[in-house]
Amino acid sequence: MNRYLRLFCFACLCAWQPFAHAEASTSTKVCVAACTHVPVDQGEVIFQNRCAICHGKNADGASDLARIMNPPPANLRASKLTDADRSQIVRKGGEAVKRSPNMPNWEVELTESELLAVLSYVRSVKAQPVK
Ligand code: HEC
Repeated sequence: MNRYLRLFCFACLCAWQPFAHAEASTSTKVCVAACTHVPVDQGEVIFQNRCAICHGKNADGASDLARIMNPPPANLRASKLTDADRSQIVRKGGEAVKRSPNMPNWEVELTESELLAVLSYVRSVKAQPVK
């Protein structure tokens, strides 16, 4: 009797094996899909640390500093710039593109991957309504 029980357990283990494998490969796929969102998430952290003080935590230009800056920091949710122009002002600063010198040149402060991440975040908020 005991022997049959052991055989039964062994059979169960064998039957379960292919499912265990399938589960592992699915979670790998989920990870790959999630990885494509990493730059935006990183970008959001950078935005909150570096940009929100002027552009507001919702990127809508509503910040305390906006009240004392002329021109005020842009509402990034309503930005009409092309990706290339937005990249230019973020990298080189406002003065370099004949806009307000109060917009810093982030090229000296952020790494290339941080710049790409924050630009991809700013691009993504354009498509979302203000929270
Ligand atoms: C010290 C305040 C300040 C900080 C910090 C700041 N900005 Fe700005 N930013 C400005 C001001 C002011 C303008 C508007 C310039 C103008 O209208 O001449 C501006 C404009 C912009 C624009 C142009 C938007 C448009 O459509 O015209 C972008 C994009 C931008 N900022 C992105 C960023 C990002 C990304 C960060 C953080 C990495 C950042 N800014 C941090 C002050 C700031």
